[in-house]
Amino acid sequence: MTTAPVVLITGSTDGIGRAAAGLFAGRGASVLVHGKDPDKGARVFEDLRSRSPRAELDLVTADLRDPAAIEGLADQVRDRHGHLDVLVNNVGVFQQRQALTRRSSRPRSRSTRSLPTG
Ligand SMILES: NC(=O)c1ccc[n+]([C@@H]2O[C@H](COP(=O)([O-])OP(=O)(O)OC[C@H]3O[C@@H](n4cnc5c(N)ncnc54)[C@H](OP(=O)(O)O)[C@@H]3O)[C@@H](O)[C@H]2O)c1
Repeated sequence: MTTAPVVLITGSTDGIGRAAAGLFAGRGASVLVHGKDPDKGARVFEDLRSRSPRAELDLVTADLRDPAAIEGLADQVRDRHGHLDVLVNNVGVFQQRQALTRRSSRPRSRSTRSLPTG
């Protein structure tokens, strides 16, 4: 366990989330790097580690279209860190077209915040 704030940034293997992970790591947070692709996650994790060698980093992988994977992610966070101080819900897009989770059969409302389909 760490005394640094524990930060989970969903979708931190690319784009805005990756940049945020670098900023949090550079400011001494314990950062959980998250993506859906384990190989890409490992590459990004090593890159962040090389840029912030003293940062506490962890890598978690879960496809957030899969409710079971979300539960697994929560279990990993609880088992490995005990708690979260900051959750940056970066994965999730506002889409005009309808999207389904893998388990659901009903289309989501167009006005709700949907999970990514990519
Ligand atoms: N970029 C913009 O101009 C902009 C503008 C407005 C809002 N946003 C919002 O900001 C957020 C980030 O955008 P971005 O442009 O930085 O995205 P991005 O560069 O495409 O990065 C997406 C991140 O989300 C992860 N991801 C995608 N689908 C996932 C899934 N099903 N399960 C788990 N992780 C998943 C990706 O993981 P992998 O690397 O493993 O694929 C990656 O880490 C999004 O919600 C987007 O809608 C972006």
